[in-house]
Amino acid sequence: MRLLFITGVQTPGETADRIAALIPGCRCEEGREKPMELKRLSLADRELISALFCDVFTHAPWHDDWSDPEQLNAYIDDLVGQRCSLALGYFDGEKLAGLAMGYIKHWYAGTEYVIDEYCIDRRLQGRGIGSAFLRAIEAYLTGQGIRRMFLQTEQDAPAYAFYRRRGFQELTGHVSFSKEIKP
Ligand SMILES: CC(C)(COP(=O)(O)OP(=O)(O)OC[C@H]1O[C@@H](n2cnc3c(N)ncnc32)[C@H](O)[C@@H]1OP(=O)(O)O)[C@@H](O)C(=O)NCCC(=O)NCCS
Repeated sequence: MRLLFITGVQTPGETADRIAALIPGCRCEEGREKPMELKRLSLADRELISALFCDVFTHAPWHDDWSDPEQLNAYIDDLVGQRCSLALGYFDGEKLAGLAMGYIKHWYAGTEYVIDEYCIDRRLQGRGIGSAFLRAIEAYLTGQGIRRMFLQTEQDAPAYAFYRRRGFQELTGHVSFSKEIKP
């Protein structure tokens, strides 16, 4: 379980144009002929999504066990195939380099993007792509009138510092509860 509530708030005054202008400015795109592209994903992209998701999260630091294909398919259905699902891919040409999966939540204080899974292809991590993808997502959400992102991770995961350094604020008052249901 990737836990710990973190919320991302856009800086007041940031317009879609200004954020979009930031997208090409990532380290990974220096010398790149074609900028990377954000695209909305659907269940038609299941194979691409499953391959990237499994490769990232079955390795360090998560070591998730996604060896049950039925459970994996059901999870991808949960994240990508529901009415409020929002799955976004970050493409280098035809290649899926990054993945954000979650849903739109119509909260009373404003509509949010709740991100359940966020990852970059293991071979491409550490090159600025995760940061550029986040900026592209913010620009996309701004265009949809969505002003907040919400996600969870673990305090000792490398991603914790990644999110904090990219403007996400830790919701220290929040706790996550879990209870095992015994038959
Ligand atoms: C976390 C993740 C999305 C960051 O994307 P990225 O493209 O590697 O990140 P960038 O190159 O834009 O930025 C690198 C920063 O991320 C940090 N980082 C986190 N995990 C990293 C990893 N596995 N490899 C390299 N850098 C990583 C680096 O320390 C660096 O920090 P700094 O620039 O603030 O000093 C990506 O590394 C990843 O998919 N990790 C595995 C899956 C994961 O943990 N997802 C989040 C679960 S909640």
